[in-house]
Amino acid sequence: MLSILDLKNMKENNDKITMVTAYDYPSGKQAEQADIDMILVGDSLGMVVLGYESTVEVKIEDMIHHGKAVKRGAPNTFIAVDMPFMSYHISLEESMRHAKKIFQETNAQSLKIEGASQETLRLIERLTEAGIPVIAHLGLTPQTVHVLGGFKVQGKDKTAAKKLLDDAKKVADHGAAALVLECVPTELAAIVSESINIPTIGIGAGPDCDGQVLVYHDIMKYGVERLPKFVKPYADFNEKGTEALKAYISDVKQESFPSDSHLFLIKNKDSLPESD
Ligand code: KIV
Ligand code: NA
Repeated sequence: MLSILDLKNMKENNDKITMVTAYDYPSGKQAEQADIDMILVGDSLGMVVLGYESTVEVKIEDMIHHGKAVKRGAPNTFIAVDMPFMSYHISLEESMRHAKKIFQETNAQSLKIEGASQETLRLIERLTEAGIPVIAHLGLTPQTVHVLGGFKVQGKDKTAAKKLLDDAKKVADHGAAALVLECVPTELAAIVSESINIPTIGIGAGPDCDGQVLVYHDIMKYGVERLPKFVKPYADFNEKGTEALKAYISDVKQESFPSDSHLFLIKNKDSLPESD
């Protein structure tokens, strides 16, 4: 399993960090078998697996329930778990309590939190001090999508770009172990990545980040309909899965399943009761 020091070394050696989300035992297991560097139990869980409208509906219990399943599937891979909406904004004490609960119960390697407000920076510092590595998340931060006014590229004008760079430096200075950059112009993500000494992991942030992250269900085209521009799908489970189910249904209807190879048979027919 990689440590946060390994991740920093990968940045220095320009060895790209790979990260994928996972939400359950099979996706965790598959990610580990594929040799991914890091797994994120993202709160995208809410939309892609639980069918919620947005990440705003995701609860601490959801993250723990799914984080534990991922851990069972990927016991030897670095796992980060998202702290969900409003679980780290009421007070520092409550945030610490929630972080402790999620970190201990999922047995993850790290927690991820969005933003760089004074309170969030303080929390990054406190968690790191307490022994919980934090992955920061800037750019498009889905938990505040209603305040941002939609799922849009962030840091496009001079002021916003400067703020993003400043925020990135702040989260790094406060001890963050890595930084997810979501929906940020390629050129700005490159500058941010050069300006801080912790790895940047991009999603819709171009090739110059120190690593990349994608949502498992986007990579697999599984249950998702429209893919964002920054996604490259590598499989089509929607098509393959529907095809497989249709073939199964058709086999049952046509009585070609189950066939000989799927049957349990009794050797001694005398042991059978008579049918009525
Ligand atoms: O929840 C999630 O999947 C994420 C990634 C998109 C970075 O936060
Ligand atoms: Na997330």
